[in-house]
Amino acid sequence: MKKILVTGGLGFIGSHTVVELQNEGFEVVIIDNLSNSKIEVLQGITNITGKKPEFHPFDLLEKDKVQDFFKSNEIAGVIHFAASKAVGESVEKPLMYYENNLGSLINILNGMQAGNCNPIIFSSSCTVYGQADVLPITEDAPLKLAESPYGNTKKMSEEIINDTTKASNIQAIALRYFNPIGAHPTAEIGELPLGVPNNLIPFVTQTAAGIRPQLSVFGDDYPTPDGTAVRDYIHVVDLAKAHIAALKRLLHNENKTAMEFFNVGTGMGSSVLEVIHAFENATQQKLNYKIVGRRAGDITAAYADTALVNKELGWKTELSLEDALRDAWHWQLKQK
Ligand code: UFG
Repeated sequence: MKKILVTGGLGFIGSHTVVELQNEGFEVVIIDNLSNSKIEVLQGITNITGKKPEFHPFDLLEKDKVQDFFKSNEIAGVIHFAASKAVGESVEKPLMYYENNLGSLINILNGMQAGNCNPIIFSSSCTVYGQADVLPITEDAPLKLAESPYGNTKKMSEEIINDTTKASNIQAIALRYFNPIGAHPTAEIGELPLGVPNNLIPFVTQTAAGIRPQLSVFGDDYPTPDGTAVRDYIHVVDLAKAHIAALKRLLHNENKTAMEFFNVGTGMGSSVLEVIHAFENATQQKLNYKIVGRRAGDITAAYADTALVNKELGWKTELSLEDALRDAWHWQLKQK
């Protein structure tokens, strides 16, 4: 049985990926420092799959521990999620973001080399494209200057991995996620935002649940059909499955180059108002919202061209925006 390391495996996307790995028969070991996740997630995963993954609670900045881990475990592949991810916080604490996101990646890559481990799937973001000039966004769209230190860590991480693949046996795939939303349909695991949510869907579900009085829609003067910003919202279970496809591609040596990049989205753009109405339809909840000014740093529109990922990974989304919003709502209802 192949043992796969999932860093940040108790986080939102990480936990859903652990479930899909276990469903596919992989043995999973998680490293997570619990900085933005809860230990209860381990039980949620176990409730879904019937199998408790091995768990090591330590920080990937602890270089010696990472080295020891790779020397004492036979790891058949790494899926690296562990990173700080709040855009606004990264603007306030850039050094923390560079140190955390780049330092942990470098420790992982060094550890992989020390343990002769290969390959790695990296959790990247469509943020590397900034506001793309052409929509939908293909993988060869030019990368833009990052809007935030967080976005820059994604860009720099891709470069660090790419350089490493040229100088070692390590093979890699970077998955550039569009907007991951939803929760597991069992409502055993989901998104656990710390404090006031920055992202749209947790804010929507918390508003519907009465935790927040009102949702602010950031801007209705964008050059889009209804004036609100457009994103490609992908169900987290579909996104998790893309990691399995990417991992199998590398384990079966089907990759074309040492490092490959794939957009992971639905290919469909939805405006903020469309999301609100889809939520109301899917859950029969009325949402209290008001239009306010634009949020600094937001782009107008981003959605993926999925032709490459569909063809090369043999993967496509199976769940709808409504499925994702319904699952997010059921998850919200389970929170105290
Ligand atoms: N929005 C609102 N009200 C809110 C929250 C969000 O109107 O309370 C709007 C935003 O202005 C944006 C859309 O909803 O138009 C989506 O916002 P999110 O914060 O959910 O997602 P972003 O597209 O801004 O950010 C996501 C990821 C980041 C990543 C970025 C890259 O969360 O990690 O995509 O484009 F950097």
